[in-house]
Formats: sequence, C-alpha cells, structure tokens
Amino acid sequence: MSRKNIIAANWKMNMTPSEAAAFLDPFLNTFSEATAVDIVIAPSFIAMPKASELITPNSAVALSAQNMSHEASGAFTGETSAAMLKEINTEYVILGHSERRSLYGEDDAVINKKVHAALSADLKPILCIGESLEEREGGQLESVLTTQLEGSLADVTIEQMGDVVIAYEPVWAIGTGVTATPEQAQDTQAFVRSVLAKIFREEVAAATRIQYGGSVKPGNAADLIGREDIDGFLVGGASLDPQSFAEIVSAGIGG
Ligand code: 13P
Repeated sequence: MSRKNIIAANWKMNMTPSEAAAFLDPFLNTFSEATAVDIVIAPSFIAMPKASELITPNSAVALSAQNMSHEASGAFTGETSAAMLKEINTEYVILGHSERRSLYGEDDAVINKKVHAALSADLKPILCIGESLEEREGGQLESVLTTQLEGSLADVTIEQMGDVVIAYEPVWAIGTGVTATPEQAQDTQAFVRSVLAKIFREEVAAATRIQYGGSVKPGNAADLIGREDIDGFLVGGASLDPQSFAEIVSAGIGG
C-alpha cells in the first residue's frame, strides 16, 4: 500500500503574523507546485489569516490549526471554532498534542469530541499520541498508545478514517534533541498500525498515514522516512527555519 508522505510544521507559540509572512514568501516559491508529498503549515491562530492570504488554493502547501474547540459557537471565551477555521481555508487541525494534553488538561474524551467536530466540518485531524519516558521504561508503551487511540478515535467511522492522520510523538523526544531511533519509531508505528487494524480493519490501517514527531531535523529525516511505517513528520523546532523545513520536506519527497 503506498501512502503519500505528509510533512507538517507545528510552529507552536512562535512566529508573529509578519514573521510567518517572511517565512512563507520564499518557502512558497520553493514549493509552488503540487509535490509528491503533502506539505502542511500550522501557524498560531493569530498568524493564520496572514498565512491563508499567502497560501493560495492551488499552492503546494495546506494550512492547519494547532487546536480548535469541539463546540460550534457560543460563550466559550478564548476558543476557536471549526467554522472559523474553514472560513480561512484551513484544511487540517492538530488535535491532542502532548502539550495540550499535559499543560491544558486535554484527555482522550475531549480530544474525541474535537476529532468528531473537525470531521463533521470537513477538517482533517492530525491526531497526536505518544508516551512519556516513564511509561516507555515502565513497560506501558503499548497500553498507553492503545488507550489513546481507542479513546480519541471512539465512534469514528471507517469512511472518516480516510481524513485522519496520526502523529506518533514520544513525549521524551519533543523539543529535547533526543530523537527516537529509526528502529524505535518504526517498531512503535508498526504497533500503532496494528491497533488501527483491530479498531477498524486491516485496509484502514494500511491506508492511514502515520507521522513521526520529536526532534526531527534535516540530519535525521532521511533515515526515519526510509522506514516502512513512517509516512511523514510533525516538526516543531526545525520547522521555524524555512531552509531546514525545506530540507525535511525534500527528505519526505525522497523517502
Ligand atoms: P520538536 O520537533 O521541536 O521536537 O517538536 C515536535 C512536536 O511537538 C511537533 O508537534
């Protein structure tokens, strides 16, 4: 089964609107036409309208949010709805990032509501899962990932899974400079795929794209992308520099 690689930049709370424009101007010229990979940029909410202006519908790059509310509208101060994201041509939304889970108390039940809200609005979720070092060393890797997948994807249909991307991000590799080895990432992502086969069915598991995230850099991207169950990256720090993100995208095209 051939899956199109998807390389996404998660800018987190970095890049003002003008900084986003300064990144995107040259970057969009480098990747101006459809490429062999899907390229996704997730700016902060405040930089998204600027990014949306620059990313035209026929550009090779798609716009993503880093989070959204599961509520449609109303008295939810500080929140952003799916309809608001759709109006500025957002295609993807990162959900359940470990920083949302650990710093803002999001659990699988809330993330599941967000996944359903996104899918109903025709937004493609990039669903993040991953274990802490303590959990990995304590032998809980498989149970943690299984619980996250079952909880976050509860009641998602086989048809809807066509729009879902999974991002495996071991918490111990995020922003630490410690990358999972290609073997660790491959073994874990093969396991994730086997869980998807149990929840849905074999064909769904085979078709679902699974990204790796956690200290991806130009220097390690090619090794990681060469592995069978790694279908792209969710990149934090190294996505803030257009040159280094372009190199990671190029590794994705080659892999
Ligand atoms: P780093 O690439 O900075 O480790 O961050 C990974 C990440 O959390 C992407 O969502």
